[in-house]
Amino acid sequence: MAVLVTGGAGYIGSHMVLTLLEAGHEVVVLDNLSNASQESLRRVELLAGKAPVFIKGDIRDRHCLDALFAEHSISDVLHFAGLKSVGESVAEPLRYYENNVAGSLTLCQAMAAAGVYRLVFSSSATVYGDGHPMPIHEGLPTGRPANPYGHSKLMVEDVLRDLAKADEHWSIALLRYFNPVGAHESGRIGEDPNGIPNNLVPFIAQVAVGRRDTLSVFGNDYPTPDGTGVRDYIHVMDLVDGHLAAMQVLTSQRGVSTWNLGTGRGYSVLEMIKAFETVSGQHVSYKVADRREGDVAECWADPTLARQELGWEAMRGLEEMLADTWRWQQANPQGYSD
Ligand code: NAD
Ligand code: UFG
Repeated sequence: MAVLVTGGAGYIGSHMVLTLLEAGHEVVVLDNLSNASQESLRRVELLAGKAPVFIKGDIRDRHCLDALFAEHSISDVLHFAGLKSVGESVAEPLRYYENNVAGSLTLCQAMAAAGVYRLVFSSSATVYGDGHPMPIHEGLPTGRPANPYGHSKLMVEDVLRDLAKADEHWSIALLRYFNPVGAHESGRIGEDPNGIPNNLVPFIAQVAVGRRDTLSVFGNDYPTPDGTGVRDYIHVMDLVDGHLAAMQVLTSQRGVSTWNLGTGRGYSVLEMIKAFETVSGQHVSYKVADRREGDVAECWADPTLARQELGWEAMRGLEEMLADTWRWQQANPQGYSD
């Protein structure tokens, strides 16, 4: 039996594929390479000493999915495939809903037709919306996400909850990620954003390596200790370990379960800059800019439920996250196109 990883050539997916191969799983990757390079999987193969099966295809393509399930015996689906740029989703909502929502529906239809009912879905803390007291636990109601990207995640969560209610075959994990950062400790695979990075840590890393001049700090007048936004950054290798733990738990339970994957500790933008400077020995030039629309002041997880039910918790601290980011960035200043 093999594990199907949709979006397995992407940032988190490639780290997941490596971890699965190292844990002895057979892996099939389905990715349309819309936001990834196959070079990530070539490097995964070098690191793991074995390769996943790679299928270039789209989760919206039912024929492709049917052929995949007919050819490979799949036990579990880890569903990372999706578009993730918040700004793009505001400009192109139809493309986001079509890819993320319609794509997930087609995937579930093909899974049910093939009799595959174990699914781990990449959700996001963005589904909680704004206005909750920190830290955020899974019992809090979901809110109204500030953009179509976040909304697409909540819509898929809703669909999966309805699906599991209607058909008791399904075992589904909704994993709500906080802020994944870092890279594999080898520095061979990591995050390779297209164009100007939207996210803080890749932007800082590109300033430190000299690829960009100055970071804009989006607002220093939030009600936080130093006025800048506070987030729960989690090492990508901890995040993928959380998926392994969820897969294991799903083998013995039905229905839908929701788990936060975060560390339980928040850091401000200024703390992140300072920590990156310490780890890299580089100066990170920044200027304070206006707040970015849709940002919340603070967002960090209560990770208790995952610890209790998955026996998982994040093990890697901020220094390790940033040191691993820096190793990857230095070795690959232009990402996979070096
Ligand atoms: P990524 O863009 O690096 O990876 C997504 C992968 O999916 C890419 O390789 C892309 O080519 C592929 N893909 C996109 N649409 C596809 C389609 N229709 N068919 C097949 N493949 C398709 O992003 P990532 O950071 O690795 O994120 C993985 C998942 O985790 C996404 O669903 C994302 O929304 C979610 N997530 C990410 C973050 C984050 O900060 N990185 C936070 C919360 C949730
Ligand atoms: N920030 C800056 N300058 C930048 C980029 C970010 O100051 O150039 C700040 C933001 O204002 C925020 C913090 O750094 O305070 C983190 O921003 P990111 O863009 O790295 O992360 P977000 O928390 O905004 O977004 C992430 C994911 C989304 C997801 C969201 C859920 O990227 O996919 O978490 O909370 F929807």
